[in-house]
Amino acid sequence: MNQLALISLIVLSSTLSVYAYPQLGSSLSPGRCPQTTEIEGGFNLTQYLGKWYEIKRTGLVFEFGQRCVKAEYKLDSDGNVAVNNSGVNLVNFEVYSVGTAKPGTQSNVFAVTFFPLSPSSQYWIVDTDYETYSLVVSCNDVLGLFNLKDAWILSRKPKLDEEIVKRLVDKLGKLGVPSSLLSTTTQNCDK
Ligand SMILES: *[C@@H]1O[C@H](CO)[C@@H](O)[C@H](O)[C@H]1NC(C)=O
Ligand SMILES: *[C@@H]1O[C@H](CO)[C@@H](O)[C@H](O)[C@H]1NC(C)=O
Repeated sequence: MNQLALISLIVLSSTLSVYAYPQLGSSLSPGRCPQTTEIEGGFNLTQYLGKWYEIKRTGLVFEFGQRCVKAEYKLDSDGNVAVNNSGVNLVNFEVYSVGTAKPGTQSNVFAVTFFPLSPSSQYWIVDTDYETYSLVVSCNDVLGLFNLKDAWILSRKPKLDEEIVKRLVDKLGKLGVPSSLLSTTTQNCDK
Protein backbone atom coordinates (compact mmCIF):
# COMPACT_ATOMS: atom_id res chain seq x y z
CA MET A 1 0.00 0.00 0.00
CA ASN A 2 1.43 3.40 -0.81
CA GLN A 3 1.76 6.02 1.87
CA LEU A 4 -1.15 8.18 0.74
CA ALA A 5 -3.52 5.22 0.73
CA LEU A 6 -2.30 4.22 4.16
CA ILE A 7 -2.86 7.71 5.55
CA SER A 8 -6.35 7.87 3.99
CA LEU A 9 -7.16 4.54 5.54
CA ILE A 10 -6.00 5.70 8.95
CA VAL A 11 -7.95 8.94 8.69
CA LEU A 12 -11.06 7.15 7.49
CA SER A 13 -10.97 4.36 10.02
CA SER A 14 -10.27 6.65 12.92
CA THR A 15 -13.06 9.00 11.84
CA LEU A 16 -15.56 6.19 11.65
CA SER A 17 -14.41 4.23 14.62
CA VAL A 18 -15.11 6.48 17.58
CA TYR A 19 -17.97 4.60 19.23
CA ALA A 20 -19.84 4.17 15.95
CA TYR A 21 -19.05 0.55 15.23
CA PRO A 22 -18.39 -2.58 17.16
CA GLN A 23 -14.65 -2.98 17.08
CA LEU A 24 -12.27 -5.84 16.76
CA GLY A 25 -11.63 -6.35 20.41
CA SER A 26 -15.31 -6.17 21.32
CA SER A 27 -16.36 -8.94 23.63
CA LEU A 28 -18.36 -11.60 21.78
CA SER A 29 -20.21 -14.01 24.07
CA PRO A 30 -22.87 -16.65 23.58
CA GLY A 31 -26.38 -15.82 24.77
CA ARG A 32 -28.23 -12.58 25.13
CA CYS A 33 -27.13 -9.27 26.58
CA PRO A 34 -27.22 -8.92 30.37
CA GLN A 35 -30.32 -7.34 31.84
CA THR A 36 -29.67 -3.63 32.36
CA THR A 37 -29.83 -2.33 35.91
CA GLU A 38 -30.85 1.10 37.18
CA ILE A 39 -28.46 3.55 38.81
CA GLU A 40 -28.97 3.58 42.54
CA GLY A 41 -31.08 6.60 43.45
CA GLY A 42 -32.19 7.08 39.81
CA PHE A 43 -30.27 8.49 36.88
CA ASN A 44 -30.04 12.28 36.52
CA LEU A 45 -29.30 13.23 32.91
CA THR A 46 -28.74 16.92 33.69
CA GLN A 47 -25.87 16.02 35.96
CA TYR A 48 -24.44 13.62 33.39
CA LEU A 49 -24.23 16.10 30.50
CA GLY A 50 -20.97 17.82 29.61
CA LYS A 51 -17.51 16.56 28.87
CA TRP A 52 -16.05 13.14 29.64
CA TYR A 53 -12.55 11.85 28.93
CA GLU A 54 -12.04 8.26 27.81
CA ILE A 55 -9.74 6.37 30.22
CA LYS A 56 -10.20 2.80 29.00
CA ARG A 57 -12.22 1.13 26.30
CA THR A 58 -12.67 -2.14 24.47
CA GLY A 59 -11.42 -2.33 20.92
CA LEU A 60 -7.79 -2.59 20.10
CA VAL A 61 -7.37 -2.36 16.40
CA PHE A 62 -9.28 0.43 14.69
CA GLU A 63 -8.75 2.92 17.40
CA PHE A 64 -5.06 2.25 17.48
CA GLY A 65 -3.43 5.63 17.35
CA GLN A 66 -6.34 7.68 18.68
CA ARG A 67 -5.48 9.64 21.76
CA CYS A 68 -7.18 12.31 23.81
CA VAL A 69 -10.56 10.77 23.09
CA LYS A 70 -13.42 12.56 24.74
CA ALA A 71 -17.17 12.72 24.55
CA GLU A 72 -19.38 15.71 24.98
CA TYR A 73 -23.10 15.41 25.74
CA LYS A 74 -25.60 18.23 25.38
CA LEU A 75 -29.37 18.34 25.33
CA ASP A 76 -30.75 19.10 21.87
CA SER A 77 -34.05 20.83 21.10
CA ASP A 78 -35.90 17.49 20.74
CA GLY A 79 -34.98 16.40 24.24
CA ASN A 80 -32.42 13.93 22.93
CA VAL A 81 -28.75 14.02 23.74
CA ALA A 82 -26.39 15.40 21.11
CA VAL A 83 -23.18 13.39 21.24
CA ASN A 84 -19.80 14.61 20.01
CA ASN A 85 -17.01 12.06 20.25
CA SER A 86 -13.62 13.43 19.35
CA GLY A 87 -10.00 12.42 19.42
CA VAL A 88 -6.64 12.99 17.82
CA ASN A 89 -5.54 10.38 15.30
CA LEU A 90 -2.14 8.97 14.36
CA VAL A 91 -1.40 11.76 11.94
CA ASN A 92 -2.36 14.37 14.55
CA PHE A 93 -5.72 15.32 13.05
CA GLU A 94 -8.50 16.12 15.42
CA VAL A 95 -11.38 13.95 14.31
CA TYR A 96 -14.88 13.83 15.63
CA SER A 97 -18.21 12.20 15.02
CA VAL A 98 -21.54 13.51 16.11
CA GLY A 99 -24.53 11.38 16.95
CA THR A 100 -27.77 11.32 18.84
CA ALA A 101 -28.66 9.42 21.98
CA LYS A 102 -32.37 8.83 22.46
CA PRO A 103 -33.78 8.01 25.86
CA GLY A 104 -35.44 4.62 26.21
CA THR A 105 -37.68 3.02 28.78
CA GLN A 106 -34.95 2.99 31.41
CA SER A 107 -33.50 6.38 32.38
CA ASN A 108 -29.86 5.31 32.18
CA VAL A 109 -30.10 3.42 28.87
CA PHE A 110 -29.98 5.26 25.54
CA ALA A 111 -30.01 4.26 21.88
CA VAL A 112 -27.18 5.96 20.02
CA THR A 113 -26.92 6.50 16.28
CA PHE A 114 -24.13 8.21 14.38
CA PHE A 115 -25.59 8.12 10.88
CA PRO A 116 -29.20 8.67 9.85
CA LEU A 117 -30.79 5.26 9.12
CA SER A 118 -27.94 3.30 10.66
CA PRO A 119 -28.92 0.85 13.37
CA SER A 120 -28.62 2.18 16.90
CA SER A 121 -26.37 0.84 19.62
CA GLN A 122 -27.12 0.58 23.25
CA TYR A 123 -25.51 3.10 25.63
CA TRP A 124 -26.02 1.85 29.15
CA ILE A 125 -24.64 3.93 32.00
CA VAL A 126 -23.88 1.14 34.44
CA ASP A 127 -22.42 3.31 37.16
CA THR A 128 -21.58 6.98 37.61
CA ASP A 129 -21.16 9.55 40.35
CA TYR A 130 -21.52 12.35 37.71
CA GLU A 131 -18.52 14.25 39.06
CA THR A 132 -15.69 11.76 38.73
CA TYR A 133 -16.32 8.63 36.70
CA SER A 134 -18.74 6.85 34.44
CA LEU A 135 -18.91 3.22 33.37
CA VAL A 136 -20.68 2.63 30.08
CA VAL A 137 -21.55 -0.64 28.37
CA SER A 138 -22.96 -1.10 24.91
CA CYS A 139 -24.34 -4.58 24.44
CA ASN A 140 -26.06 -5.59 21.24
CA ASP A 141 -27.64 -8.96 20.44
CA VAL A 142 -26.38 -10.74 17.34
CA LEU A 143 -28.85 -13.11 15.66
CA GLY A 144 -30.32 -13.97 19.05
CA LEU A 145 -27.38 -16.30 19.61
CA PHE A 146 -24.53 -14.06 20.62
CA ASN A 147 -24.01 -10.67 22.11
CA LEU A 148 -21.34 -8.14 21.35
CA LYS A 149 -20.23 -5.89 24.17
CA ASP A 150 -18.20 -2.74 24.20
CA ALA A 151 -17.34 -0.77 27.28
CA TRP A 152 -15.87 2.56 28.26
CA ILE A 153 -14.50 3.96 31.47
CA LEU A 154 -14.95 7.72 31.34
CA SER A 155 -13.71 10.45 33.62
CA ARG A 156 -14.42 14.13 34.12
CA LYS A 157 -10.68 14.73 34.15
CA PRO A 158 -8.01 13.33 31.79
CA LYS A 159 -6.78 11.16 34.69
CA LEU A 160 -8.78 8.86 36.92
CA ASP A 161 -7.77 7.48 40.29
CA GLU A 162 -6.36 3.93 39.96
CA GLU A 163 -8.58 2.59 42.74
CA ILE A 164 -11.69 3.71 40.88
CA VAL A 165 -10.39 2.29 37.60
CA LYS A 166 -9.74 -1.05 39.29
CA ARG A 167 -13.22 -1.18 40.79
CA LEU A 168 -14.80 -0.41 37.41
CA VAL A 169 -12.63 -2.96 35.59
CA ASP A 170 -13.75 -5.59 38.14
CA LYS A 171 -17.36 -4.61 37.58
CA LEU A 172 -16.90 -5.04 33.82
CA GLY A 173 -15.45 -8.50 34.39
CA LYS A 174 -18.65 -9.48 36.17
CA LEU A 175 -20.65 -8.19 33.21
CA GLY A 176 -18.66 -10.39 30.83
CA VAL A 177 -16.08 -7.91 29.56
CA PRO A 178 -12.63 -9.28 30.49
CA SER A 179 -9.89 -6.80 31.32
CA SER A 180 -7.75 -8.31 28.55
CA LEU A 181 -10.03 -6.60 26.02
CA LEU A 182 -9.58 -3.16 27.53
CA SER A 183 -7.01 -0.74 26.27
CA THR A 184 -5.93 2.47 27.94
CA THR A 185 -6.46 5.71 26.07
CA THR A 186 -3.56 8.15 26.09
CA GLN A 187 -4.69 11.51 27.42
CA ASN A 188 -1.94 14.02 26.83
CA CYS A 189 -3.79 16.99 25.33
CA ASP A 190 -5.59 18.78 28.18
CA LYS A 191 -4.29 19.47 31.65
C1 LIG B 1 -31.07 16.55 38.57
O1 LIG B 1 -29.99 17.37 38.91
C2 LIG B 1 -30.27 18.75 38.76
C3 LIG B 1 -28.96 19.51 38.95
O2 LIG B 1 -28.29 19.10 40.10
C4 LIG B 1 -31.36 19.14 39.77
O3 LIG B 1 -31.66 20.51 39.64
C5 LIG B 1 -32.59 18.29 39.49
O4 LIG B 1 -33.57 18.54 40.46
C6 LIG B 1 -32.25 16.82 39.47
N1 LIG B 1 -33.41 16.08 38.96
C7 LIG B 1 -33.93 15.07 39.62
C8 LIG B 1 -35.09 14.42 38.95
O5 LIG B 1 -33.48 14.66 40.67
C1 LIG C 1 -16.89 18.29 18.34
O1 LIG C 1 -15.80 18.42 19.22
C2 LIG C 1 -14.59 18.81 18.60
C3 LIG C 1 -13.48 18.76 19.64
O2 LIG C 1 -13.80 19.47 20.78
C4 LIG C 1 -14.79 20.21 18.01
O3 LIG C 1 -13.62 20.60 17.36
C5 LIG C 1 -15.95 20.16 17.03
O4 LIG C 1 -16.20 21.47 16.55
C6 LIG C 1 -17.20 19.61 17.69
N1 LIG C 1 -18.24 19.47 16.67
C7 LIG C 1 -19.50 19.80 16.86
C8 LIG C 1 -20.41 19.62 15.70
O5 LIG C 1 -19.90 20.21 17.93
